Amino acid sequence: MVKILISGIYGHMGRNVFELAKEDGEIEIACGVDLRAGDLEGVPVHNGFEKAEKADVVIDFSSAANLSNVLAYAEKTGAGVVLAATGYTQEQLEEIERASAKIAVFKTANLSVGINLLQKLVSEAAAFLGENFDVEIIERHHNLKKDAPSGTALMLADSVNEASGNAKQYVYGREGMVGAREKRELGIHAVRGGTIVGEHEVMFAGEDEIITLSHSARSKRVFAAGALRAAKFLKGKPAGRYDMKDVLSEN
Ligand SMILES: NC(=O)c1ccc[n+]([C@@H]2O[C@H](COP(=O)([O-])OP(=O)(O)OC[C@H]3O[C@@H](n4cnc5c(N)ncnc54)[C@H](O)[C@@H]3O)[C@@H](O)[C@H]2O)c1
Repeated sequence: MVKILISGIYGHMGRNVFELAKEDGEIEIACGVDLRAGDLEGVPVHNGFEKAEKADVVIDFSSAANLSNVLAYAEKTGAGVVLAATGYTQEQLEEIERASAKIAVFKTANLSVGINLLQKLVSEAAAFLGENFDVEIIERHHNLKKDAPSGTALMLADSVNEASGNAKQYVYGREGMVGAREKRELGIHAVRGGTIVGEHEVMFAGEDEIITLSHSARSKRVFAAGALRAAKFLKGKPAGRYDMKDVLSEN
């Protein structure tokens, strides 16, 4: 049995995790944390980590702004953390790195199995096609998403960049007389609207041919399921950094 604390429990993702966790025989929900305290079908919800019950793993779907609180709770109690929020600053990424010397930290911008496969395919395509193909990433999300471009788009961009000898320059959208496209550019474009769950397209445009690799999430449940899978993986793991590749390779 894995005891979880759901951080951001009243949010869209928090609710999805809560619903799936209720049906999962291997998961017990210790409590939730959100901006206001309360009770969700008998599960206590606190407006901070001070009074939170002990859990094996914290699943954080609140906000990047809550990072220090999540890490402080984990360091105090020895819990593992699934960091699923996106939009961390460079300083916060360093804070995560430091924390992983003391606790087990799982972090990914995208918890779906499909996106992790896409990441692998994108690396292979970038290495295979080389610099004769221009790479552009287009992501689409719902109109409530706060950060742009998506953490997943950046993760895919990093995969292309690594496979291209780290020679790419990220260009976020284009406007005005920008001139001809330079070979080293890697365009990243964020589209926002309606209730789109999350779509990512990586386009390799060459001379007279285009290859497009894409993924479309059709519901938020796919991320909630990934978070529970990550929580089960993380319980009892030694301090360190983990991501979806570790989870998938263990199974
Ligand atoms: N890694 C993934 O696969 C994945 C998938 C979907 C969403 N996300 C990310 O998860 C996060 C949440 O997404 P969402 O759509 O559920 O957002 P949301 O706005 O619906 O929910 C966030 C919840 O967290 C709470 N919250 C915010 N700041 C808090 C704080 N400081 N302390 C406690 N609670 C706080 C809010 O009250 C809200 O209930 C975003 O960063 C989003 O990009 C990641």
